[in-house]
Amino acid sequence: MSLRPVLSQSPAQPTMEGAGVKLHRAFGFTDPTMLDPFLLFDDFRNDREEDFIKGFPWHPHRGIETITYVLSGSVEHGDSLGNHGTLGAGDVQWMTAGSGILHQEMPTGNAQGQMHGFQLWGNLPSSLKMTAPRYQDVKGTEIPEVIDDDGTRVKVIVGEFWGKNGPVDGIAANPQYLDVFVPAGVKKTFKIDTYRRAFAYVFEGSAAFADASQPAGVLLEKEVMGEEVNIRDMSGDRTLVRFGTGDEVTVQAGPEGARFLLISGAPIDEPVAWHGPIVMNTRDELIQAVQDLQNGTFIKPAH
Ligand code: CO
Repeated sequence: MSLRPVLSQSPAQPTMEGAGVKLHRAFGFTDPTMLDPFLLFDDFRNDREEDFIKGFPWHPHRGIETITYVLSGSVEHGDSLGNHGTLGAGDVQWMTAGSGILHQEMPTGNAQGQMHGFQLWGNLPSSLKMTAPRYQDVKGTEIPEVIDDDGTRVKVIVGEFWGKNGPVDGIAANPQYLDVFVPAGVKKTFKIDTYRRAFAYVFEGSAAFADASQPAGVLLEKEVMGEEVNIRDMSGDRTLVRFGTGDEVTVQAGPEGARFLLISGAPIDEPVAWHGPIVMNTRDELIQAVQDLQNGTFIKPAH
């Protein structure tokens, strides 16, 4: 057993996307190798309609997968291939853009006017960048939840965890995407295979991610709910926690418990050429994508 060190904890940064949606970006558009195979993570939780209602009108994607997880409110989705649908609270859409789609994503608030959710971008390897587009729309009720004796609850969205398999499959990076709740004061260890790159994103309460393998100089000794753990800091709402190499992570929930996403995947380790919602391996492929958009050949006929 080796504990994954905490490489960094950082707050998601406020930014604006789409037609004027306020969101918090945990990572993206900086160093694409940092969390390879993941490129970007946006937290679009908003409690005021004017901060999200303009949505994300028609835009292209190529070479990546986008994973949308709705917690409250709904997102109406439509694309150039004739696919459309609505994601409600608890639902997940795993979209493999592959060779290309043009789509729009339009949010609607819940009864209180709130819209809560996340979007993750996963990279595709060169062999799959031009694969046929594919959607996996998953209802919240289809997502298995495992509940431990200590009250820990884990929704298994993708991958295998504690004997349950998430409903999304066929993804290149073999990701694991978990929605975890750990009750107040409970300390919990989660296995994550060594070959994976891993991060957590805290979105309710707070947690201390144990960090025993850091050099002593950067450790802080803190008392968390009566038990001493080596931590850098407590991670609160909207904190990205990046893990180093190892085969498990340990977390201790703060006084209100902690809810966080725990996401990992196999690095692709290829060159990245990135232009907005299009992510390829080379600059020539980006130029080709832009030309395809300009001359109307971006959408490839179904094979
Ligand atoms: Co999009």
